[in-house]
Amino acid sequence: MIQTLEWTDSGVRFIDQTKLPTEETYVTCKTYEQVADVIRNMVVRGAPAIGVAAAMGIALGVQNSKAESVGELKQEFDRICDVIGKTRPTAVNLFWAIRRMQEKFERVRVRAVPQIKQALVEEAQRMHAEDIAANQAMGRHGATLMPSSGSVLTHCNAGALATCGYGTALGVIRAAVEEGKKIHVYADETRPFLQGSRLTAWELMKDGIPTTVISDNMAGEMMKQGKIGAIVVGADRIAANGDVANKIGTYTVAVLAKEHGIPFYVAAPFSTIDLETSDGAGIPIEQRNSREVTHIAGKQMVPDGVDVENPAFDVTPAKYVSAIITERGIARAPYEESLQKLAEQPLALGS
Ligand code: MRU
Repeated sequence: MIQTLEWTDSGVRFIDQTKLPTEETYVTCKTYEQVADVIRNMVVRGAPAIGVAAAMGIALGVQNSKAESVGELKQEFDRICDVIGKTRPTAVNLFWAIRRMQEKFERVRVRAVPQIKQALVEEAQRMHAEDIAANQAMGRHGATLMPSSGSVLTHCNAGALATCGYGTALGVIRAAVEEGKKIHVYADETRPFLQGSRLTAWELMKDGIPTTVISDNMAGEMMKQGKIGAIVVGADRIAANGDVANKIGTYTVAVLAKEHGIPFYVAAPFSTIDLETSDGAGIPIEQRNSREVTHIAGKQMVPDGVDVENPAFDVTPAKYVSAIITERGIARAPYEESLQKLAEQPLALGS
């Protein structure tokens, strides 16, 4: 199994996603500042993985603290949360994770400093395990929507590498394959960071799931030729009305899917659903360094001085989304009602 990130005795260990697919190397962060850097630099990326990385970064910072009183520890904890919270703005899982660690701190603050540290480390580890269980549950729900035989298109990487294991969109595909469905995956390359060609193709190859990489501008033609039976992608933040922020280019795929009558599914855990944001207009979109667009593997592809834009995400309006697959079940339009209903439902991940 791919270990995207894990808590170890010597620090938080990450597979370095900037080096894949050609090098499988790992980095171990020993301080929370290093964890903030690996989130910012996309050594670890993907909304659920970012969330758990944030929690582990906070736990690491607290564990390293020299604070002698609970008050001092709390001050340091707040500073750590602040630094981690400024790394990437779009994936709401980051803020969900910080809030969950804050709530944990409040619940255990009556204890002594070493016990508080221990409780926060355990909470981060629990979030890691819960993420995998959520993905497996999502897979079971989502597999029912996959064709028994045919091709499924995905954009970016919403797989084991974007989570603590198994994946959201790729978890749905994995579960369908485990059930005996004959799925062939079309992976959009996903410029500029190439999460599709570098990461999705890498992990599906490891699992022996047949995969074809296409450049992003080929997706429409593949749909027109009848090669795509369904589309499944992940999400970085889903607003209460079902608008979906995901990797730049997702919106284009969703509009093309509608034109060709192809179902467009989004798979995401509840930690990605932001019921406090009413619609997509309220979702902050990260703008990344223009160098990701102007250079490929260190080689300049754009003349000096040309204006470049690099929004890392776009928002797909809910009207293009056929269903949202979560660990609690499948939501369909109107999403204000279906997401709220699932949020209120008791969660039994084992079922
Ligand atoms: O910029 P990234 O690589 O962090 O963006 C990742 C995506 O957009 C994923 O599709 C999303 O986080 C879902 S991951 C399960």
